[in-house]
Amino acid sequence: MKPAIPAVVLALTLSALTVQAADSISGASRRTAKSAAVIPKNIDAVTSASVVPQALRQSVKPNRFSLRPGVKRVLFVVGDPRSESVEWDLVNTAMKHFMDKGYDVELRDLYAIGFNPILTRENFYQAKDGFGKTPADITEEMMYVRSANFIVFCYPNWHDTPNTIVKGYMERVFQKKFAYRDAQNGLEGLLKGKGIFTIMNAGWVGMGRGDLGDGLPRAAGEKSNPIWDKYMTAFKTLDDDTAAFWGAKNLGRFVNDQTPGNLDEDYAAKLEQLRSDLRRHLDSKFSLKP
Ligand SMILES: Cc1cc2nc3c(=O)[nH]c(=O)nc-3n(C[C@H](O)[C@H](O)[C@H](O)COP(=O)(O)O)c2cc1C
Repeated sequence: MKPAIPAVVLALTLSALTVQAADSISGASRRTAKSAAVIPKNIDAVTSASVVPQALRQSVKPNRFSLRPGVKRVLFVVGDPRSESVEWDLVNTAMKHFMDKGYDVELRDLYAIGFNPILTRENFYQAKDGFGKTPADITEEMMYVRSANFIVFCYPNWHDTPNTIVKGYMERVFQKKFAYRDAQNGLEGLLKGKGIFTIMNAGWVGMGRGDLGDGLPRAAGEKSNPIWDKYMTAFKTLDDDTAAFWGAKNLGRFVNDQTPGNLDEDYAAKLEQLRSDLRRHLDSKFSLKP
């Protein structure tokens, strides 16, 4: 009698065949560098991610929170590992704009500071109920949040929600007894008087730039477009709920899904248009004087 093929070997073989079949259909392997450890030199030509040409990249240094009386403070919480991205260009543009308008700006670059976004079993009850000692890394972040009048969350659209590192910041920093507490009639938000805002670069959310109502019309006479508005309504639902939980005000979003192509000949002009659209949007959302 032939020996039976162990089930585990069969499963592994079938799984390898399925992966190979999917790969040959998608052609993914042919598009990828042989070694994933080596990033191609012409990354801007081969990646589907945005890469701002070196000459156009800006480096903006936040002026930090000075606690000068009468000066409003904006905290940028950024979750993007790529400084060459359009997302980071939007962050830099926004930080500079607020500073030009006389605001104090503080930046928490979550990848750079190595923020740990994971709510573990060990710190679950501390975050959920406020039991025990707040972890030191969270105490520091609370200081920034407490001092801020506005908190701007910035992340590229990775599956339509805050990406992991930013979501983890929300879960771990905006905890009970800091952002909300039990009150007689349920939960009470503790961050009253603060505003939250989101800056998100996207691959495709129906085509548009801005917020609800700012979709690219698809036909003459159309004001926005319903697909874009469907996405923006979903984001607004999420942001309104998050803000309400914390007692803060949701000031909305700047979403962009009209990113210049990396190799566009008129890249500089398109980037400048994007930057000025963001500045105008911030003027309107934050009632900044133009
Ligand atoms: C893990 C991952 C998931 C993504 N999911 C979405 C998505 O759900 N919707 C979308 O519009 N774009 C999605 N994208 C595409 C990015 O939003 C797009 O590449 C965009 O340009 C990101 O901004 P950036 O280039 O400035 O980083 C995803 C990208 C990654 C890496």
